[in-house]
Amino acid sequence: MNILSLQNIEFSYNPKSQKVLDIKSFSIEKGDKVFLYGPSGCGKTTFLEVIAGVLVPQSGIFSFLSRDITKMSPNERDQMRAAHIGYIFQSFNLIPYLSVEENIVLPLYLSPERRKKISHTIESEEIQKICQQLGIVELVTRPVSELSVGQQQRVAVARALLGKPELILADEPTSALDQEHREKFIQLLFEVCKQENTTVLFVSHDRTLMNLFDRSVSLAEINQGGRK
Ligand SMILES: Nc1ncnc2c1ncn2[C@@H]1O[C@H](COP(=O)(O)OP(=O)(O)O)[C@@H](O)[C@H]1O
Ligand SMILES: [Mg+2]
Repeated sequence: MNILSLQNIEFSYNPKSQKVLDIKSFSIEKGDKVFLYGPSGCGKTTFLEVIAGVLVPQSGIFSFLSRDITKMSPNERDQMRAAHIGYIFQSFNLIPYLSVEENIVLPLYLSPERRKKISHTIESEEIQKICQQLGIVELVTRPVSELSVGQQQRVAVARALLGKPELILADEPTSALDQEHREKFIQLLFEVCKQENTTVLFVSHDRTLMNLFDRSVSLAEINQGGRK
């Protein structure tokens, strides 16, 4: 079963500029770990933002969890994203003046639906469990501004996965790491995704990572838009 599928999607940042995305067809099966690669500037972040419902394509059909995202109001899209998507940003986007735990629980405050997936009584157990898996239990009360890049990355994964979103979108979260740590990071991400069979779409310019995934896709091959 597809978790998402899109057809004839066209997106440009403004009506006069060239299309960044022009994609005839793309879909992801539930539970798949998909690697999408392409050079810097080819539209990877734009594509993830369209999938997250942050950006809306000018034309085409895009369904996510069997619902047509392009027909939703901005508020409905925000709710859909908060409830069902965990986003790992390129620069993590952690809130510096909050502690590790406060950062991790943020998505639950943004979505009652996501919060409901964890009953109130077991919320602290779930936080504990995910922090244990990621090896950050000792850090929960620390401000994130005091953490190393590797530790921040783990916090970003915990935040993306708490509340069991169906889809994880990851935007080059390994670019600051060396090769060995990149592979370890992805293995850790998959380990945490295993229990719920969470779907992952991971974008990167670094093709050496593609063997770790179920499927890899070149954005240039599926995209007629963008710089050529
Ligand atoms: N907010 C924006 N406004 C206008 N153009 C943008 C914006 N963000 C990205 N672009 C342009 O869209 C293209 C794709 O960018 P991006 O999706 O960030 O690529 P990648 O993530 O693969 O490096 C680039 O030409 C970039 O300059
Ligand atoms: Mg990018």
